[in-house]
Amino acid sequence: MEVLIFPNAQSLASKSADLVESQINAFPDSVIGLATGSTPLGLYQELIRRHLEHELSFKQVKTFNLDEYVGIPGDHPQSYRTFMDENLFDQIDIEKSNTKVPDGMAENPLDVGPAYEKLIEKAGGIDLQVLGVGTDGHIGFNEPTSSLGSITRVKTLTQQTIEDNSRFFKPDEFQPKLAITMGIKTILDARRILLLAHGENKAQAVCDMVEGPLSAFCPASALQLHQRTTVLIDEDAASKLRLKGYYKFVGEMQDDLVKKHKPSDWIAR
Ligand code: GLP
Repeated sequence: MEVLIFPNAQSLASKSADLVESQINAFPDSVIGLATGSTPLGLYQELIRRHLEHELSFKQVKTFNLDEYVGIPGDHPQSYRTFMDENLFDQIDIEKSNTKVPDGMAENPLDVGPAYEKLIEKAGGIDLQVLGVGTDGHIGFNEPTSSLGSITRVKTLTQQTIEDNSRFFKPDEFQPKLAITMGIKTILDARRILLLAHGENKAQAVCDMVEGPLSAFCPASALQLHQRTTVLIDEDAASKLRLKGYYKFVGEMQDDLVKKHKPSDWIAR
């Protein structure tokens, strides 16, 4: 796991946008896995800016979102489909038909997972997956004790996640307790993973993910098994890491190597 520590959320967003942009420049038809939540907003704003100012094009890009709430329609203000449309898709040149989000209103939500897996497979698999992390260490909506071998399916949210996400719902509004999420295996199958986290409230989850034991109790720790995961965090989210100094040292050594030799094989495919 490569751990990059940034002084603030802006520099983190800019570096993550560099990595996504290199992927798209190398493979304009890249398949990108996307996340919702407040964490990737800086990345999305940066991608929109680059689209408008530098003509970064998403014309051939295909996207798969990690998850969606069960029981609210795609046009609901709090659905992840609406989130993605408003915060990214409507502001870039992506073909809407190339953007997939699990259907939270399917007649049988239990059928959605296997069909979503097939769609990902048909697209050739995910080249680059963007992730955030929940305060309880969840990725997508894979809550603690999710099987490390799980694929896309319905999950029940923990009380902590329901509380964390209640800020987006009005006090008397229906807040879903179920979601459809890519599984941990689905995520680990991505060729490249970028996990973003900022703020002190993520410090424990980041520490458990990077330095804790590999355990279904912290689903994000499964990323320790992935060969090409880059964790991009700010100083606050890094504050509980025991080897923080070491990760910075690795970063300097890496920069040095890249200056002297060919850039690393960052691009996935
Ligand atoms: C939700 C999403 C996750 C996201 C997490 C963190 O539960 N399903 O994909 O990573 O929230 O959200 P935030 O970035 O707002 O802290």
